[in-house]
Amino acid sequence: MPRKLSWMALALAFILTVSCRNSKKEPVMTAMKKQPFGTADLYVLANHNGVEAAITNYGGILVSLKVPDRTGAPGDIVLGYDTLDGYIKQSPYFGAIVGRYGNRIAKGRFALNGKEYSLALNDGENSLHGGLKGFDKVMWSARDVSTSQAPALELTYVSKDGEEGYPGTLTSKVTYTLTDANELRIDYAATTDKDTVLNLTNHSYFNLAGEGSGDVLAHEVMLAAGKFTPVNATLIPTGELKDVKGTPFDFTTPTAIGARVNEKDEQLIRGRGYDHNWVLDSGGGSLALAARVYEPKSGRVLEVLTDQPGIQFYIGNFLDGSIKGKGGKVYGHRYGFCLETQHFPDSPNQPAFPSTVLRPGQTLREVTVHKFAVEK
Ligand code: BGC
Repeated sequence: MPRKLSWMALALAFILTVSCRNSKKEPVMTAMKKQPFGTADLYVLANHNGVEAAITNYGGILVSLKVPDRTGAPGDIVLGYDTLDGYIKQSPYFGAIVGRYGNRIAKGRFALNGKEYSLALNDGENSLHGGLKGFDKVMWSARDVSTSQAPALELTYVSKDGEEGYPGTLTSKVTYTLTDANELRIDYAATTDKDTVLNLTNHSYFNLAGEGSGDVLAHEVMLAAGKFTPVNATLIPTGELKDVKGTPFDFTTPTAIGARVNEKDEQLIRGRGYDHNWVLDSGGGSLALAARVYEPKSGRVLEVLTDQPGIQFYIGNFLDGSIKGKGGKVYGHRYGFCLETQHFPDSPNQPAFPSTVLRPGQTLREVTVHKFAVEK
């Protein structure tokens, strides 16, 4: 073949290959990227609508969550740090997986099958969020379990029998999935080799106007809960399930967080604001809408769906400006709110509450979905 002709043939073949490839319209793979994060790793999950979630295997922490506002501009809506060091040095559970037991166990004691167990007291006279070294402070092993539909990260942690005073070797798996429906889904699974108790949750602090941008008092919140669990002076539930009607705890219709937070209500005074467990109307057991939050400036909306019976609505009352977070921003009083889907606090000591006991042969499965949207 003359030289000129063979060049033309080559060029034609190239054009054909490229156009064939494009015409197949292969789905653009959803992406998960891994990068170093101090001595841990950071996994960045992205969807096709500009939502991006970054998670580290240290504490299973959701480090950042970028979500577009009503103009399409992305903003990071979770409080936290730029570096692993920040989380290690001082963190009020920013973004972390909390375990073995989310929230408080009275006096750090409970009995199971007639045997007494005692836990470290790390919150006055109570045990909080799993003790001195809870699941928020351990290294999880990570596995990319993405599908062609969605990037997904599976984290596994095996907690030894007796760790932090809890019985049984507990294997927990937490899977973060980011869908193109703008949902960050968290699936929990756990098994044990001895009877034990557990209450796993995620402790992200949200500010839908953007982390570090101010307090969250203008956010409008709806909680699908007609009752809440009032607390004693050390924030342990009294055992009562109290009607929210006629109290500042009624969020059955959307209400600004700040509208009633400073009322002279005994429960608000005890919590220093909202720091309580709401009893979801769904009763738990199947996925249902638990909360909806709207932020007027940005237009961002967060919906939380869960199959858990309760939700801890905490509004960062203990943030006091002493923490400098991402970009050196000062996190002041009530700069973030948490919606911790869960079983009720102190359930191991409250037989009338839904049980938090897990036995060998059973697999605990729970799911919480964070769904993002905008309103004009
Ligand atoms: C608790 C608060 C606590 C916070 C930890 C919340 O789940 O209810 O009382 O201060 O976690 O930062």
